[in-house]
Amino acid sequence: MDRRKFLSFVGGASALAAMNANQKADALEMAMEQELEIANLNHVSKSPFCRAYGVDNDWESGPRIGGQLRHMGHDPRLPKMSEKPTLLEFFDKRIGHSSHLLQSARLAKLNGLPEKMILACLLHDISVTAYINVDHGYYGAQLVAPYVEEEISWAIKYHQSLRFIPDEEVNYPYPEAYVRYFGEDYKPEPYIFKDGEYARNHKWYMTARQICINDVYSFDPNIQVSLDDFHDIIARNWRDPEEGLGYDGSSSAHMWRTMIYPNNFL
Ligand SMILES: [Fe+2]
Ligand SMILES: [Fe+2]
Repeated sequence: MDRRKFLSFVGGASALAAMNANQKADALEMAMEQELEIANLNHVSKSPFCRAYGVDNDWESGPRIGGQLRHMGHDPRLPKMSEKPTLLEFFDKRIGHSSHLLQSARLAKLNGLPEKMILACLLHDISVTAYINVDHGYYGAQLVAPYVEEEISWAIKYHQSLRFIPDEEVNYPYPEAYVRYFGEDYKPEPYIFKDGEYARNHKWYMTARQICINDVYSFDPNIQVSLDDFHDIIARNWRDPEEGLGYDGSSSAHMWRTMIYPNNFL
């Protein structure tokens, strides 16, 4: 290690002279560790949550922003959110116009379901698309709960477990897609069956089950569905907060902020 750097690390030549041999050895080790740590930080560190929303995720080879060692603030790779974002803005800039969500909502509409169920279908996998995959029904429900009727968020929560549980009476088999995705031998965890059983005996069972029935996994590439087709339903069944999603102090405001700043280090 460079002598000048070492001297500045210990606080000068006189401070070094006052140390015994052991202290000098420890100081040298610490100085070398610090030097190595700084060398490793020639990229911007990101949060472990990090979502790149489809843009290049190779953050570490990217440029440092304004000298930051750890990323904070707007991620310049993503579209900038306004100060008072609405659900539609989140669809445009974070959630994306996902065929899965749009085609599921379209099917629910064609099947003549009530508006709140169409909205439930439009939002049912919002967490997979924009937040977190694991336990997506539970996270999705939490995200939307302050802004929709309770029945909608309840249905989004329980579609996750019901999706794995067939119900012949309503003509819902175990999804073929899941055999492909998870393998023939996959058996869901006990909590899925426990929550599924609870949902089955609940007054809103069929709302959650309708999400499963209209959950489209085999997309028709010839069908183009536009989010515009659901603007009216969103306007009537979703309450955007005046302060903007993320800034209204609701129980899920921090989750919306996480989508605004998905790569903040803290
Ligand atoms: Fe789902
Ligand atoms: Fe789905």
